[in-house]
Amino acid sequence: MTGFRRDAQDSAVLGSLRLSQVIREAEVELPAYVYDVDGMTETLRSLRHAFGDAPHLVAYAIKANSAGTVVRAFAAEGAGVDAVSGAEVELALSCGVPEKQVVMSGVAKSDAEIDLALFKGILAIQAESVEELTRVLARARATGHRADVSLRVNPGIEIDTHAHIATGHDAAKFGISESDLAAAYALIDGSEGRLSQVGISVHLGSMMTSTESYAQSARKLCNLARERRPGAPRLGYVDFGGGFGIDYGGAPSVPPSEFAHTCVRSLRDAGLSDLTIVVEPGRSLVAPYGVLVARVVQTKLSAERRWVMINAGMNDLIRPALYSAKHRIELCDSSPQEPEWRVVGPVCESSDDFGAHPLGAEPSGLLAIRDAGAYGYVMASEYNGRALPSEVFLQGGKIVSVSRSPGRQAWLQRRLDA
Ligand SMILES: Cc1ncc(COP(=O)(O)O)c(C=O)c1O
Repeated sequence: MTGFRRDAQDSAVLGSLRLSQVIREAEVELPAYVYDVDGMTETLRSLRHAFGDAPHLVAYAIKANSAGTVVRAFAAEGAGVDAVSGAEVELALSCGVPEKQVVMSGVAKSDAEIDLALFKGILAIQAESVEELTRVLARARATGHRADVSLRVNPGIEIDTHAHIATGHDAAKFGISESDLAAAYALIDGSEGRLSQVGISVHLGSMMTSTESYAQSARKLCNLARERRPGAPRLGYVDFGGGFGIDYGGAPSVPPSEFAHTCVRSLRDAGLSDLTIVVEPGRSLVAPYGVLVARVVQTKLSAERRWVMINAGMNDLIRPALYSAKHRIELCDSSPQEPEWRVVGPVCESSDDFGAHPLGAEPSGLLAIRDAGAYGYVMASEYNGRALPSEVFLQGGKIVSVSRSPGRQAWLQRRLDA
């Protein structure tokens, strides 16, 4: 069994372990993220299976959850990595991801990050503008390297998602618009072999719960790859991007395998089945397998309003404040029941609010904020002098590693030193 469920005693379980028992055994301060690593690797395995015998690379968007335990587990299953910084490239390589399975995206790569990619010999720098390509060429000349590049295309496609996580439309800062592709090709073709196009890429944005836009973008990308191929003999992959949605409890999403089938079909229809399919999923591989465990600090009743104050805040999980995201919240010791309470954190911001949840007559003890395995810990901060949260990793029915919060003292010292 993987993911979140309740046992016969109504206790919250992640994987095969009760959350309250995990917190006791790990002896961590709360709030703490707890991850079911087996659930993550199973999802990766079934995604890879969905490609059948089509050559493919699942380049995990490491930004979603960059914990070494997670990245090493994915590397052992044959995953690659989509990195968006030099530090993420180094992390992937240190976790055992082969360099030819690492791609680097990002709209403002520094010269040092470009040099790192060149020296490490990663699969490709995914260029997001003609200007970036010019800078990559300059670094390739300066360092005596050939730069293997992919062009990240902005296909001008709007997806049905929160505006902050849509990246493939005309107004987005991401990717090379189709009208600029000719200039990009000319730069590559005139580079005397210093730039070599090995791929073509796209990423529409996050939380697509159906495959329609993904298929539209895949068709466009395959057409571009077919047109470009005669002029780019090393073009070896088409990267269809990530963005596969999950069910946060409000609306269902098609499974990751549907996105894989869309890629396979699109390449086949374009007569390009010999090219490698690259996808860049982040959230769908990790989000459902992480919970943020917190403690009820107190309740507050005022007129008709009911609040539950907890010891996790927007500094620990910013998605509700940043994207109006709603995560299911449940007490660890009893399943959801009326009445609803507004769950809020300790941070001095009105947006430090996790929404209304059915927590019963007298909420107390531990609670679990569900589906927090992606874009949770990685976005945590020490705002308000709060310590970074702890992390606990479960694999094979036991705790395999614990990353303890550095504590408030670490924050205090750094502020004193500043
Ligand atoms: C370039 C790129 N690829 C992949 C992803 C992963 O998206 P998701 O976590 O929705 O799969 C992102 C996320 O923003 C991204 O920017």
